[in-house]
Amino acid sequence: MDDDWDSLLENKRVLIELTDKCNLHCRMCCNRKSPHGIGQGFMDIKLFDRILAEINLNKQWSLELFWLGESMLHPEFDKILEIALQKLENTNSHVNLHTNGSILDEKKQRLILKFGERFPFMTVSIDAVHPETHKEIRGGDLETINQNLKEFLFLRKQMNAANPRLNLQFIIMKENAEETKAFADYWEAFYAQNGINSSDNIFFKRLEVHDIEKQKEANKLYDETIEKFNLFSTTTSPLGIISKEKSQPPAYWFEEKSEQRQVCAAPFKNPVIRWDGEVTVCCFDDIFFYTMGNLKNSSLRDIWYGEKMDAFRRKHIERRYDELLTKDGWAKCKACIGYYFPKISEPEIEHYCKAKGLN
Ligand SMILES: C[S@@+](CC[C@H](N)C(=O)[O-])C[C@H]1O[C@@H](n2cnc3c(N)ncnc32)[C@H](O)[C@@H]1O
Ligand code: SF4
Ligand code: SF4
Repeated sequence: MDDDWDSLLENKRVLIELTDKCNLHCRMCCNRKSPHGIGQGFMDIKLFDRILAEINLNKQWSLELFWLGESMLHPEFDKILEIALQKLENTNSHVNLHTNGSILDEKKQRLILKFGERFPFMTVSIDAVHPETHKEIRGGDLETINQNLKEFLFLRKQMNAANPRLNLQFIIMKENAEETKAFADYWEAFYAQNGINSSDNIFFKRLEVHDIEKQKEANKLYDETIEKFNLFSTTTSPLGIISKEKSQPPAYWFEEKSEQRQVCAAPFKNPVIRWDGEVTVCCFDDIFFYTMGNLKNSSLRDIWYGEKMDAFRRKHIERRYDELLTKDGWAKCKACIGYYFPKISEPEIEHYCKAKGLN
């Protein structure tokens, strides 16, 4: 995949869903029996290979190997990582993964550690320090997950490897808000007691809810919890915190008015590919309101740099959200809470407009 206009864009991410199947049942996740409204499945390894062959890996792409399921459940997960490792060699692109950590066995740990700087971060979604809370929220066995995580940390230490750095993720919601501090204390103590040197982070994440009023409640709980337990962002070693800056106003991004808000970067920087090859504009479009085509019939290049995508981008630049209606007449982009990440800068938009002859 190659084109002039996006060569200067930073933080480009192609999301490749290896599967939408999952072994957990997290209450806040849109992974249901049929997360995309079609049957569930696994990406064909040949399709994965083809996608990587189409992406210009010299243009700093992050290959996000997950979406709505648990990627490690893919029967050929190890082989897929081997393919990625081989293709990323001598490029400046890298892999990124979010996992629930429940099946992160030693074989997978060793494979992941082989990537070095080609696998800079891995996020492990935990959300609890007490097993009962984890069971309630995620339906899993916290002790197994913590054990896998600790084994990974010991192996990384033993191999003297710096990557991947871990984000120990905790989504703040009403069921677990009171144990945020205990979570941070638990992992800080573990790192200190075991001499784990790292630049890892505890990541306190905002709960995303696809309902404006509920989102406001989630934002309020997030801001209040961070403040109550003084869990603002820090860069302390060996375990920092990613949350919000002390000076940051509450729910800063959500309160912006849609007419004034920044242009959404996703249609410029973030192609999203479902396990069966269907392509859409962003990871918030889980039921494919804005589908752009399928890799069974087209190349990724033809879809991502094609006219349909350009028309969609143009409407975003001109903030004509009312024209971006879904099939049932809903202006999803207008009401979307997801436009805040990743970002696209003014010079990047200007660069795109110039390449496309737009004023
Ligand atoms: C859908 S999961 C797939 C990857 C993997 N199964 C996991 O749990 O990490 C991708 C990410 O979305 C997060 N997530 C799920 N539901 C969320 C929500 N309502 N708000 C914010 N993040 C959410 C998960 O914790 C995870 O980090
Ligand atoms: S483990 Fe990940 S994909 Fe599975 S239900 Fe939980 S958040 Fe969703
Ligand atoms: S505004 Fe939201 S729905 Fe629209 S492209 Fe951006 S992230 Fe996707």
